[in-house]
Amino acid sequence: MCGIVALIGSREAAPQLLEGLRQLEYRGYDSAGIATIDAAGLHCLRAEGKLVNLTVRFEAQGAPGHCGIGHTRWATHGKPEERNAHPHLDGSGELAVVQNGIIENHRSLREELQATGVMFRSDTDTEVIPHLLARQLQLLQQGGRVASGSLLLQAVQEVLPLLQGAYALAVVWAQAPGALVVARRAAPLLIGLGEGEFLCASDTPALAGFTRTILPMEDGEVALLTPLGIELYDAAGERVQRTPSLLSGTEHVADKRSFRHFMLKEIHEQPETAALWVARHLPELGNQAGSQAGGSAPSSPMVALPLDDALFEGVERIQLLACGTSRHAAQVGAYLLEQLAGIPTDVFYASEFRYAPPPLGPHTLTIGVTQSGETADTLAALAMEQARRRLVADPAYAPRLLGITNRPESSLGRLVDQVLDIGAGIEVGVAATKTFLGQLLAFYGLALAFAERRGGSVNGRGPEQLRALVAQLRSLPGLLRQLVDDHDQRCEALAHRFAETQDVIFLGRGINYPIALEGALKLKEISYIHAEGYPAGEMKHGPIALLDAQVPVVSIAVPGTVFEKVLSNAQEAKARDAQLIGVAPEGPDTDIFDVLLPVPAVDELLSPLLTVIPMQLLSYHIAAHRGLDVDQPRNLAKSVTVE
Ligand code: AGP
Repeated sequence: MCGIVALIGSREAAPQLLEGLRQLEYRGYDSAGIATIDAAGLHCLRAEGKLVNLTVRFEAQGAPGHCGIGHTRWATHGKPEERNAHPHLDGSGELAVVQNGIIENHRSLREELQATGVMFRSDTDTEVIPHLLARQLQLLQQGGRVASGSLLLQAVQEVLPLLQGAYALAVVWAQAPGALVVARRAAPLLIGLGEGEFLCASDTPALAGFTRTILPMEDGEVALLTPLGIELYDAAGERVQRTPSLLSGTEHVADKRSFRHFMLKEIHEQPETAALWVARHLPELGNQAGSQAGGSAPSSPMVALPLDDALFEGVERIQLLACGTSRHAAQVGAYLLEQLAGIPTDVFYASEFRYAPPPLGPHTLTIGVTQSGETADTLAALAMEQARRRLVADPAYAPRLLGITNRPESSLGRLVDQVLDIGAGIEVGVAATKTFLGQLLAFYGLALAFAERRGGSVNGRGPEQLRALVAQLRSLPGLLRQLVDDHDQRCEALAHRFAETQDVIFLGRGINYPIALEGALKLKEISYIHAEGYPAGEMKHGPIALLDAQVPVVSIAVPGTVFEKVLSNAQEAKARDAQLIGVAPEGPDTDIFDVLLPVPAVDELLSPLLTVIPMQLLSYHIAAHRGLDVDQPRNLAKSVTVE
């Protein structure tokens, strides 16, 4: 969590730092700060609350200098108050540090420093770093070393081994005004290369308008940046040379266009997300003429995924690791992988998997699902799985890791063997919408590819049925366009009914059960209304006791294996006076609902791609109607880079 930026060059640093922080505000927004250096010394500005408070302070007080660091915070250690905002300074006020991550041994370090007389001003874990650096610099200077960028680098290299945990940090020192030192371990940091200037940041949006040339830092690396160049070192202190890469397309530009919120814009972008996915991964119909029924895989695959064949070979079991919305996508994915491809698939909370992994099995594909590619729980679970499998001599147990992400250049991309890029473009709203759709599509592609390679499918779906599914997938962008436009208005009109609502129940079954969970999560995170998602058949085993006329029930009922069952479950809720909102096709069966949010009747297996749209729009409009900060809901951040 948190976003950091750091700049060194010939321009005034503060405006660029503030712009970078604005682009990173999705990572945390409970306080912000900058520190710049000029000949007069170090200038530090901090403010509680949104970035705008810091901007106001900057406009009043200024922060001169061509070198500086900035931070936008999501509180972990210490309340969101100004004294806990970054940058944190050493006792002399000459050295400043911003950090994203958690220093796990901060307590013992703090006690050790306090025992030597160091005074702390904040409750943060980060503050130990400037004090440790100041101590180290003092030792080095007592040994006759002269203040310089190299000395600051050496001090950072000597202090980092004392820190436990995951972090990305940037340091400036008034005694070395032409130097900036940055480092990372298990938290993201990349260096943007400009003309005689460098901008480091936690994520690419901060580089928009600055550069497209980037050097993502690897774990354990430390860099000394001066206007003349970069010195990059690995964890062992060895100099590293690496070629920078180029950011592609407009993916790192965040623009709200004419929409009121990023979330609404991103919901409206989903038809485009689907159209791009169809164009990339579903080859033209004509190319499928040679497809074989049954037996071996057809020469022209129905689904074209940029994955090596080896990934598919001999897979006996799949395990999916994810958090939050990504986990809901994984649950739909598991349904598809089991029901379409016949591969036993388990979904895990990444945060639980690491500490209670299942016994190792052979020929297992592990998939990390994370739109940001930076979720610490997911990365840690994947790394643990990789490490424990590497200890087994039997090649059947070798790690086979795939990542499904919107950020192939992320830490996830560097950890796994292969990546399925969902290509949804940058998502700024904290509530995931178009990336969820992109993740679902990735799973449809994967399940179809597995099914096709296995010569058809299970549960009575042969190659013909698979082709029919693919044909329906092609029509998805058009269906989504109509659905989004239609439900935007319907849900806006419905939102006022939820003005006093305190609890909402979301029901779904089968492949739409994860969509009920997703509907509840969306509502909770942006409207702060308590919501629960349940498999509809479970209601009668306890939760039905919650129902009365004040509790709306949103029920997903699409024709297929559980249609009648879901309708019966909805009836049971209605009998308890609940207001029933149906997400279902129009028809005589669905007139039991007090309000219907109609969705087109498609193959049940494809229905989550459509049923999720009313969920997103309903949550959005309820939150917007309540006047809440939809894009930056309280207590949350877009990517959770702490465990
Ligand atoms: C989504 O609306 C949530 N903000 C959150 O649950 C999110 O899905 C979760 O933190 C996982 O993020 P990731 O996809 O970047 O790993």
